Amino acid sequence: MTKILGIETTCDETGAAVVEDGWLVLSNIIASQAKLHEKYGGIVPEVASRKHLEALPVVVDEALQKANFKFENIDAIAVSKEPGLPTALSVGYAYASGLALSKNLPLIDVNHLEAHIAAIWLSCEGEKKKEIPYPYLCLLVSGGHTQLQLVTNERTQKIVGKTYDDAAGESFDKVARLLGLSYPGGPIIDKIAKEGDEHQIKFPRPMIRSENFDFSFSGLKTAVRREVEKHKEEYDGYKDNKELHKELSNNRVADVAASFQEAVVDTLVTKTINAAAELGIEVITMAGGVSANSRLREKLARECHEAGFELYYPEIEFCLDNAAMVAAQAFNQIQP
Ligand code: KG4
Ligand code: ZN
Repeated sequence: MTKILGIETTCDETGAAVVEDGWLVLSNIIASQAKLHEKYGGIVPEVASRKHLEALPVVVDEALQKANFKFENIDAIAVSKEPGLPTALSVGYAYASGLALSKNLPLIDVNHLEAHIAAIWLSCEGEKKKEIPYPYLCLLVSGGHTQLQLVTNERTQKIVGKTYDDAAGESFDKVARLLGLSYPGGPIIDKIAKEGDEHQIKFPRPMIRSENFDFSFSGLKTAVRREVEKHKEEYDGYKDNKELHKELSNNRVADVAASFQEAVVDTLVTKTINAAAELGIEVITMAGGVSANSRLREKLARECHEAGFELYYPEIEFCLDNAAMVAAQAFNQIQP
């Protein structure tokens, strides 16, 4: 059995995890800086890297303790190398390389996006290993990327469609900001949208009928901005009075959140299903922070069921940035 210690510092989460054979999560520790960056409405790179430096030894210790392991029980260390915030990445990479050298363990560099995709295999103790048939089409939707990736086996995958501009997660974050909601925008829009009416405003579904598998979300964000400007006084009142967050029923902000979310979800679901059909792929998976979205999970599940596709998505804790997925992808990379 191969036990890998994964380390993750690409953005604002410091993660360490121990994973056996690429799927069994023995520990998955995450120190989130989200609260810290909330007041700036986004991530401040210098703050993020300083916090990673402080948190790394703590999360690594905790991950080993939780797995009831010492370094002697670990076979390799895996670290996210790219893409991500350069300053945050370099802190994690320097730490992981030093650790590997001092403990005399191999270091495995992992691509953060491929790690997100590998998260689909993760399960916790007491669960069975998932049997997901290859090939599958993965809808990868994170803060910085939106792409469709065709995964043929553990070591082969290729991008078949991607966004021309904003990523889906980025559009959630920017729209949340327009609406005076906190950072990160995805979880709060997901929550508030439940109080709103998604049919209230007909936002565009960008490139939904394009012939390729690509996406574009910046026009949708502009459409939301125009809507907010049209009713400026109402929104400004809302932004100034955070108490209103608590009384969202029949509130225009909830309707905008729900209508915007529906436009993103419709686009992602339609394009993914069309791409799978056109490529002749029968299995669909999802990955990345936006795959935690409740409406996306619900709608993609329903449409996959209706169209006869098999669908797999990770548990929510493995959709968001974490180190278990880094260890899972490292295991894929060492397969013969
Ligand atoms: O994959 P991730 O944790 O980090 C990156 O690699 O970027 O994705 C973060 C993104 C953020 O844009 C965040 O707003 C979005 O995922 N997100 C969500 C939800 N939870 C996180 N978007 C929609 N609905 C959610 N529930
Ligand atoms: Zn990520």
